[in-house]
Amino acid sequence: MSATAHKTAPNAQDIRARKGGVPLVSLTAYTTPMARLMDGHCDFVLVGDSVGMVLHGLSSTLGVTMEMMILHGQAVARGLDRAMLVIDMPFGSYEESPAQAFRNAARLMAETGAGAVKLEGGVEMAETIRFLVKRGIPVMAHVGLTPQSINTLGGYKVQGRDDQAQAVLADAHAVADAGAFSVVLEKVPATLADRITAEVAIPTIGIGASAGCDGQILVVDDMLGFFAAFKPKFVKRYADLGPMAGAAIAEYAAEVRARDFPAAEHVFADQAPVKGAKA
Ligand code: KIV
Repeated sequence: MSATAHKTAPNAQDIRARKGGVPLVSLTAYTTPMARLMDGHCDFVLVGDSVGMVLHGLSSTLGVTMEMMILHGQAVARGLDRAMLVIDMPFGSYEESPAQAFRNAARLMAETGAGAVKLEGGVEMAETIRFLVKRGIPVMAHVGLTPQSINTLGGYKVQGRDDQAQAVLADAHAVADAGAFSVVLEKVPATLADRITAEVAIPTIGIGASAGCDGQILVVDDMLGFFAAFKPKFVKRYADLGPMAGAAIAEYAAEVRARDFPAAEHVFADQAPVKGAKA
């Protein structure tokens, strides 16, 4: 067990209390170095099951396992002091029954030190959310586009347009009433996101929703330009690091082939340097 103590990090109640205030800032992270970069900028960091697609090359999040979430959760925990750690429950780890959800949520929290779990679903998951919260597990809900359900939703489509709006609204109310401390709204029309934000008492966290949400989240590899398989409309590229990394790797390969790397400054002399001089 590697539960890392985050003494200064906000907890679920602190996040809940930010409703209507300065927008909550969040990103996903899967590794210690990336978590370190965002600690101090983010209110909470999500170990998203998007890890399966952006780091493991899976074509959807459905193949993500508890073991993957725990390994990445522990890595992210080592990089955080000031931001709250939230961890996704992977597909198949909570839908069967509230008891199954409790067992796996407790394991995720105990083995990573996360302060809350996130799970996908609205009305149909309300009973499970109530069960978890009553037993000490803070839950962040996730409604609208729920990527673990792409096979029933028919793809990564906007959710809540036209006559679908009432269903998404009902989902948001159901998870809030069940005790979730916040709710992610993914890929829902902006006016619907604004309505949900006005109506529910918990913070809404938008991703492809509205600037009027109580907070925003993005997948870090999307916003840094590392994940290029596809770019949803809601992603803003704040940097284009993927092509930069590719160019650096190509330069390294060319230098190795030309015997330009390593150069004299990268290799060691026979004699140990005199004290005080560089190795
Ligand atoms: O898995 C994930 O990264 C997520 C965010 C997109 C909210 O659920």
